[in-house]
Amino acid sequence: MQAGLARSPRRISPKFFYDAAGSRLFDRICELPEYYPTRTELRILGECAGEIAGQIGPNAEIVEFGAGSLTKVRLLLDALDSPKRYLPIDISGEHLEAAAQRLKADYPELVVQPIAADYTMPLVLPAPVAGAGRRVGFFPGSTIGNFEPEEALAFLQLAARMLRGGGLLIGVDLVKDPGRLHAAYNDAQGVTADFNLNLLRRANAELDADFDLDGFAHAAFYNAPRQRIEMHLVSRSAQSVSLNGETFGFEEGETIHTEYSHKFTVEGLRALAVRAGFRPGAVWTDPEKLFSVHWLVA
Ligand code: AVJ
Repeated sequence: MQAGLARSPRRISPKFFYDAAGSRLFDRICELPEYYPTRTELRILGECAGEIAGQIGPNAEIVEFGAGSLTKVRLLLDALDSPKRYLPIDISGEHLEAAAQRLKADYPELVVQPIAADYTMPLVLPAPVAGAGRRVGFFPGSTIGNFEPEEALAFLQLAARMLRGGGLLIGVDLVKDPGRLHAAYNDAQGVTADFNLNLLRRANAELDADFDLDGFAHAAFYNAPRQRIEMHLVSRSAQSVSLNGETFGFEEGETIHTEYSHKFTVEGLRALAVRAGFRPGAVWTDPEKLFSVHWLVA
């Protein structure tokens, strides 16, 4: 975080959003009337689960990238024909272990093997269990949108290698009316603003910083040519902040970039998947074409 703040322009990686308070704020975002992605993806997964399970086939091994609290995968597990094993990968090991225990209790037939790791780094998966079907990656939530375009390609290339012979089921937010996108990241209750500002609260608590949270404003806007929402924290005045003994001067209006949330067209995502070594298969969307779920054959 400290290195990013020293750069020009300043930035903090979105991976720092998700401490305990940030994860709770994100859960509240998912419930907001303006934030359509989560409920739309859940609806697609629920309604199309049978078809999705048909593509995946029996005895599958599911590898989830950035698994969090393991709620979405339940829709998939419920529809699959005797899933063999579930390998959720997440950097937050403790949270993951607890969620894995709860899942195990609900799916006694399933082998649940959590992996505490950074899924953007190459990692060796355990060998398939006897009688295993396809190895299938699961990457919901349009988390791919957080990556820069080259990082998204690199991640998909890594996934294609890891999942060879199987496939990737990926949830991707779609390009749409900028007004709708703007509202989703500028909610009336200010929960997204609080989520963004929580980065500074976290720096104060963990990095001995003295950010004045009232001294920074939440800014989120749609950059149409780049097909992405950009989130920033904007300094409301000239001020200086100390962090781990280092002093950072901010000009009035100077920003800290905190997140990209790229949006895709269905064709754009499929073209990116081809470049990464996948063969694009079926795509499922909602009637309003807000969100998409893609089956990519590795
Ligand atoms: C979890 C990265 C998909 O980009 O929409 C929600 C995070 N940021 N509101 C997204 C987020 C602001 C979310 N992702």
